[in-house]
Amino acid sequence: MARKRPREHLKVLLRKSQIRRKVRHLARQIEHDFHGEPLHLVCILKGACIFLADLLRELELPVSVDFIAVSSYGKGSLPSGEVRITKDLDHSIEGLNVIIVEDILDTGLTLNYLYRILQSRKPKALKIAALLDKPARRLKEVPVDYIGFKIPDAFVVGYGLDYGERYRNLPDVCILPAVEA
Ligand code: PRP
Repeated sequence: MARKRPREHLKVLLRKSQIRRKVRHLARQIEHDFHGEPLHLVCILKGACIFLADLLRELELPVSVDFIAVSSYGKGSLPSGEVRITKDLDHSIEGLNVIIVEDILDTGLTLNYLYRILQSRKPKALKIAALLDKPARRLKEVPVDYIGFKIPDAFVVGYGLDYGERYRNLPDVCILPAVEA
């Protein structure tokens, strides 16, 4: 009997070629908006690491990066809706052109919280780039400037997104059918 292939249950939603084209397009939009000025990309760990790595290499501007991590609802013992910084930025963002780089905008709780925190640190500009947007799940509004794809209300993995820390390494964004979004 043939062995079941490990990815059989996954359904491809966005192929790596589509994602590559979209990331290039977002990079061109960002370059157009910032007119050659230096940019500081803030990556929200961990899911956004692949998007950050690809966007970073597409941008033809002077770019620096920093990382921030949050613990949110559904993780550990925090009540629903609460967000807490577990790893803060290494450097001040005062006076910088900052783009928050996020893999997915879901309920909006994470980005709504981080946007307000980072705005209070007086950057010159503060923008948000999210590769995926799942509008059906939104609880908090977020001012997103650069969106890759609007996606349906399904649980997605790959291209940095995980399920129990698995699947982040998949090159495509895939739907994991058995999991509720
Ligand atoms: C995911 C994703 C976003 C957040 C979006 O992170 O990477 O940061 O959830 O959800 P929201 O809009 O409902 O707040 P997760 O907590 O799974 O951590 P990870 O990035 O380390 O996988």
